[in-house]
Amino acid sequence: MSTSLGGLLSLLDASGLRRLVDRDARLVAMISVDDVHRAARLRLPRPVYEFVAGGAETESSVRRNRSAWGAMTFRPHTLVDVADRDLSTTVLGRPVAMPLLLAPAGLARLVHPDGELAAAAAAGEAGTVMALSTGSSCTIEDVAAAASGPLWFQLYLWRDRDVVAGLVQRAAASGYHALCLTVDVPIVGQRERDLRNGMTIPPRLTVRNLLDASWRVPWWKGFLGGREVTFENFLGVEGAQNDSAAALGAFVNKQMIDPSVTWDELPWLRELWPGPLVVKGILTAEDARRAVDGGAEGVVVSNHGGRQLDGAPATAAVLAEVVDAIGDRAEVYVDGGIRRGTDVVRALAIGARAAMVGRPWFWGLAAGGEAGVARVLEIFRTEIDRTLALLGVSRVAELDRSFLG
Ligand SMILES: Cc1cc2nc3c(=O)[nH]c(=O)nc-3n(C[C@H](O)[C@H](O)[C@H](O)COP(=O)(O)O)c2cc1C
Repeated sequence: MSTSLGGLLSLLDASGLRRLVDRDARLVAMISVDDVHRAARLRLPRPVYEFVAGGAETESSVRRNRSAWGAMTFRPHTLVDVADRDLSTTVLGRPVAMPLLLAPAGLARLVHPDGELAAAAAAGEAGTVMALSTGSSCTIEDVAAAASGPLWFQLYLWRDRDVVAGLVQRAAASGYHALCLTVDVPIVGQRERDLRNGMTIPPRLTVRNLLDASWRVPWWKGFLGGREVTFENFLGVEGAQNDSAAALGAFVNKQMIDPSVTWDELPWLRELWPGPLVVKGILTAEDARRAVDGGAEGVVVSNHGGRQLDGAPATAAVLAEVVDAIGDRAEVYVDGGIRRGTDVVRALAIGARAAMVGRPWFWGLAAGGEAGVARVLEIFRTEIDRTLALLGVSRVAELDRSFLG
């Protein structure tokens, strides 16, 4: 009996099937972020998967983000001593082990019950920064307790400035290093996949998604066993617990987001926040200058992962313009379609201090919780390291535009 069981196990092992049940082996077998993405897609119910993967309207900016990085070729230097390589850098004065940060993305507990806590722990373990979304599904305080690395807190300028001031004070009291003001949401972009799917927050077990759920048992087990997924930083704010994507969008548009905000408000925030200030959602030299003139120490070149203005340019295409405008006065970060270490190195060669990723850490979280996010960061780390070696570069500070074709 035991011989036949042993035989069966070694057969499973030999065929690689054992990986399906051993989480760590399963994660190690994912050798690229695309592999992790595929695993997450299999695990998540369709409405949840599409909430993360989707973009605004025709999703042209989602596609453009990705293809623009891929189109950039390298000019490698050969026969350079690259035996000793170093990926570390600084981000707003804080040392980090690699030039890749986790971008703010809300409602992480939709994809895994450990949500933002797991991502913060994995980022700290990898020696890098996590930016926590205002719309997070874990509180500012709980994430600070779970993190061991530097944190940014992402903010919108809501209509009620007392709510904003309260969030800023909580982030300061919890030891967040930087405040990141997102400026590309004067209203919420139209995410058509969510509307078509009747996406609700939290997702509901309906007859339609029961069929889909039947072979996504681990996700539903985690989801139904955990506490309700909601905007934890806004518990008690009337209307914030609306459940359908349409109702929530309307609530956010009408009650929360203030489309009348202008650059004149930046000095108010600058006064309120004692640490470094970063403005996220910049796509032009003009806006980059306004942000820095208003007191920002950094900007994130971003089109919100193609989730806001459909037709926005690829971030890879406008990064140089922003670096040239303010690179001598502030740090420039970039996100959107970064899926490979080569993309990070391209961004650094243009002049970014570091790159950020949104969906990739959600895929890691969905595929394996904290270990999944750690796997994504490890894939990026090894890819960045390999790219530097093959380019003839030992340190990230050596990169410049002469390495791009
Ligand atoms: C599910 C999801 C939620 C997001 N939530 C926020 C948010 O609350 N605040 C924000 O500034 N950006 C948010 N973003 C945008 C990300 O910060 C980032 O700009 C984008 O994901 C980068 O593109 P990438 O996903 O291709 O890496 C979100 C993105 C995703 C995918």
